[in-house]
Amino acid sequence: MKINPIRSICCIGAGYVGGPTMAVIADRCPDIDVTVVDLNEERISAWNDSDLNNLPVYEPGLDLVVSRARGRNLFFSNQVKESISSADLVFISVNTPTKQKGLGAGQASDLRWVEACARQVATCAKGHTVVVEKSTLPVRTAAAIKAILAIPQRQYLNSEVAPTFSVLSNPEFLAEGTAINDLENPDRVLIGGEDPEAVNALAAIYQNWVAPEKILRTKLWSSELSKLAANAFLAQRISSINSVAALCEETGADVREVALAIGTDSRIGPKFLNAGPGFGGSCFQKDILNLVYLCHHFGLPEVASYWEQVVELNTWQQKRIARLLVQKLFGTVTGKKIAILGFAFKADTNDTREAPAIRISLDLLEEGAQLAIHDPKVSPNQIALELSHLPSNLDPGLKGEGTWHPSKSVETALEGADAVLILTEWEEYRDLDWLRLSRLMRAPAWVFDARSVVDPEKVASAGLMLWRVGEGSD
Ligand code: NAD
Ligand code: UGA
Repeated sequence: MKINPIRSICCIGAGYVGGPTMAVIADRCPDIDVTVVDLNEERISAWNDSDLNNLPVYEPGLDLVVSRARGRNLFFSNQVKESISSADLVFISVNTPTKQKGLGAGQASDLRWVEACARQVATCAKGHTVVVEKSTLPVRTAAAIKAILAIPQRQYLNSEVAPTFSVLSNPEFLAEGTAINDLENPDRVLIGGEDPEAVNALAAIYQNWVAPEKILRTKLWSSELSKLAANAFLAQRISSINSVAALCEETGADVREVALAIGTDSRIGPKFLNAGPGFGGSCFQKDILNLVYLCHHFGLPEVASYWEQVVELNTWQQKRIARLLVQKLFGTVTGKKIAILGFAFKADTNDTREAPAIRISLDLLEEGAQLAIHDPKVSPNQIALELSHLPSNLDPGLKGEGTWHPSKSVETALEGADAVLILTEWEEYRDLDWLRLSRLMRAPAWVFDARSVVDPEKVASAGLMLWRVGEGSD
């Protein structure tokens, strides 16, 4: 079917992907109206806030992009139905978390939000609409979306022609913290679909700023699966280097040196070889577990257990760090103050989903520690939500056990602390004045650097004990 150039886009889901991605599309395509809709009114009003510091997603550079396009051809709205009706193309960019109960609980993706979107599009769309999967989905989800769109959802008035649809897969590869650069200069844009006219219409949008050779066209199923496979490969590298880090600590090797040595092999490459507290974020674990579920579903248990091990090693790494901190502090942290620097799952984001800090903090709270938690972008409310544990209203002195307290500054977090544990690689933690900070701590005080951000010599010359991930001693 002949498809006219896209002039109006509706994106369902104003989250970490929908908001920044549509902001960049609107910025680069001034002739296309882009409306991002969401059921969450608070989120939409934050996207519309005149103070760009209050956008619901913190991403370097996002404020500038939004300020250029918002109100011109970029709109944020709760009017889901109206926006779908007037769109030539609808992106589905809603959450696809791991199912919590029922069939596939703990592994399969919960597709209820995607299905709700498909039903809403089926009911509200007019004319021919290109429906694009932007969410990360199990392979063959497009078949379910097509089936829903094929159901006659409404009675057509004489003047109204039944709507028609093309379904495409266009997964998003942005990483948080670098989302704007990833969107503006993507390694590739992947479009899966069987309808060449629809594929070309979507490709034409990206061609406003992406070189044509970077726009890959594949079968629908290849596109859906490539997204899961890409995340699985990336996460696998992190579990691989973390496994090597543990071996380095036992043998006297240094994981930074090993990473450099193996990463200079051009077949391996230097990226994604930073050992740390394990991967966090909303997607790696969920997408691998989804892959594991699919492998079982398709009768491939050996393939399933191969990928499952990537997640198991990640959990082990997080538990290992909490355990070794307790061991180094004479086997007990009960009533001891521990400063946690960084709660976000990586630097340059306020996202805490699946952050390593959650599991590690919970383990330390279970051991009776008093945590003073500092993060430059994560609010105390968000930390409380993640820990399901209200902050103590006591000042974090040596009172009480298994409590936590938000700290406004690194200094207040470290005051009276026996140890500091660095869990996010925020720039401001790279150049701390350890000599001055050491005087605030209770000796013998420890620095646990799970992100390799400190200068070991400065820490040692301040009289502090140091543990760095993947560093063995002779
Ligand atoms: P998110 O939770 O931040 O945002 C999803 C939004 O969709 C929410 O605001 C929710 O209210 C809204 N929503 C859900 N159902 C709706 C409906 N029926 N109508 C209107 N709004 C609805 O999620 P996210 O991080 O943006 O991720 C979205 C998808 O993109 C997921 O599948 C994820 O795996 C994938 N992805 C995420 C990232 C990332 O960095 N976060 C990167 C690549 C891909
Ligand atoms: C990841 C992928 O990088 C994106 O391509 C993908 O689109 C996205 O998931 C998604 O599907 O959601 P993101 O989770 O935002 O992006 O961030 P990453 O930079 O991949 O980091 C993930 C986790 O791995 C973080 O906790 C990070 O600290 C950790 N990590 C990363 C390491 O421990 N070591 C590294 O070398 C790299």
